[in-house]
Amino acid sequence: MANRLPVDRVSTPQGPQWRRSPGGLVTALQPVLAAQRGTWIGWTGAAAAPGEPPMEPFEIEDVRLRPVSLSADEIERYYEGFSNSSLWPLYHDAVETPIYRRRWWDAYRRVNERFAEAAAEEAAEGGVVWVQDYQLQLVPAMLRARRPDLRIGFFLHIPFPPIELFAQLPRRIEVLRGLLGADLVGFQQPLAAQNFLRLTRHLLGLRPRGETVEVGDRIVTASAFPISIDVAEIENLVATPAVRQRAAEIRHELGDPKTILLGVDRLDYTKGIEQRLTAFQELLAEGQLSVPDVVMVQVATPSRERVEHYQALRVKVEREVGRINGDYGRVGVPAVHYLHQSYSRSELAALYCAADVMMVTPLRDGMNLVAKEYVAARADLGGALVLSEFAGASAELRQAFLVNPHDLDGLKDALVRAINVDPIEANRRMRAMRRHLRTHDVRAWARSFLTSLGVSDTMT
Ligand code: ADP
Ligand code: G6P
Repeated sequence: MANRLPVDRVSTPQGPQWRRSPGGLVTALQPVLAAQRGTWIGWTGAAAAPGEPPMEPFEIEDVRLRPVSLSADEIERYYEGFSNSSLWPLYHDAVETPIYRRRWWDAYRRVNERFAEAAAEEAAEGGVVWVQDYQLQLVPAMLRARRPDLRIGFFLHIPFPPIELFAQLPRRIEVLRGLLGADLVGFQQPLAAQNFLRLTRHLLGLRPRGETVEVGDRIVTASAFPISIDVAEIENLVATPAVRQRAAEIRHELGDPKTILLGVDRLDYTKGIEQRLTAFQELLAEGQLSVPDVVMVQVATPSRERVEHYQALRVKVEREVGRINGDYGRVGVPAVHYLHQSYSRSELAALYCAADVMMVTPLRDGMNLVAKEYVAARADLGGALVLSEFAGASAELRQAFLVNPHDLDGLKDALVRAINVDPIEANRRMRAMRRHLRTHDVRAWARSFLTSLGVSDTMT
């Protein structure tokens, strides 16, 4: 179960339709659930009208979906409030200042109860429930209280902060106890699991040993399971003539530049989009790069648009794009092609194939699947990846051009090196990263988590 179903219900002139939901969680879990016979419990992405009965479960692409309803008020307090204005910035190193409002907490607890209730109804006797991400941290304990027969796993897709930051959270004890309801708590990085275990000592006086901690008469394990992507899905896509042709078309539509720089992100302040734009702007100003030899494409998926931090970011990014295009663009050749839109998987795959340099520069990111998708897409061994040290993916993709996105000169230098890399050297780097991904795809991730949880064939 996750806050979101893998599809969103959107209103269109033809009536309501389902569309793939944004973000890495859905990308990673969709193939895993489709391969199992599980039920995915989640929210539809739309507000339920007052008095509207909950939607019945239904099936899409071999996955049974059980919708959970949220009212407009709950969306504001549980989703936009506690989840995305308190927890999201706090867990990402407070790169934006977290906001705490007491009234958000009640909604967070109430919605977590609703998810626990739904899982308690759905799960078979002695079954397995796998709870996903920061929006549902109270569910493990709530579910255990209702259904002690279940095996309960929890996976956090985003970073878990060090004690000094977590300690800010007004409801820190409840959140910690909620997570400790699981048998296995999974994180992207070993350091995050250690942060969590140290917190159980610091805040609850428990005695963690190695990767485990005793909670009453139970043992809870906390460990790292770095998530990945469906490598075969991307490889199959880029092998199709349609995608290859589309990649060539994109290059042509961009004016056949020597170098295409690409960024693909949700429009989120953790992604370092502004740092990337500043680096590009300075390189143009210094004459190290020039239009139309080099163009930048920035795809920024609309995200959490009613949350203030996101509205402010959009204004800043769009102002900067406008400024760069005003200063360095030509008629018919903007310096930055900015696309505030969602794309199909095949269009994204074509963009990856067309891009000479992929820029993934988050200030903090649990994993970053875009970096892995780019590597999976480069079956031709072409292209270069500039990757932030602060993305979980940097622990695995060591042959990328690794950067500290706070260090503007370092970022500019890495961009220039990636643009000018010798093709043989680029091939060597790409081959090594691809070799790693082959054996570490999302199925291996799911298998490893579920095996640690003591199961491997059923899942809710
Ligand atoms: P996050 O989970 O924070 O959004 P990730 O990089 O881990 O970041 O995952 C983002 C996922 O969303 C990737 O699978 C990527 O392909 C997808 N995505 C990003 N931008 C777009 C877009 N404009 N259109 C469609 N999918 C997108
Ligand atoms: C990240 C989070 C997910 C979230 C996704 C999209 O991947 O880890 O939990 O679903 O972003 O964000 P949204 O708020 O649109 O669900």
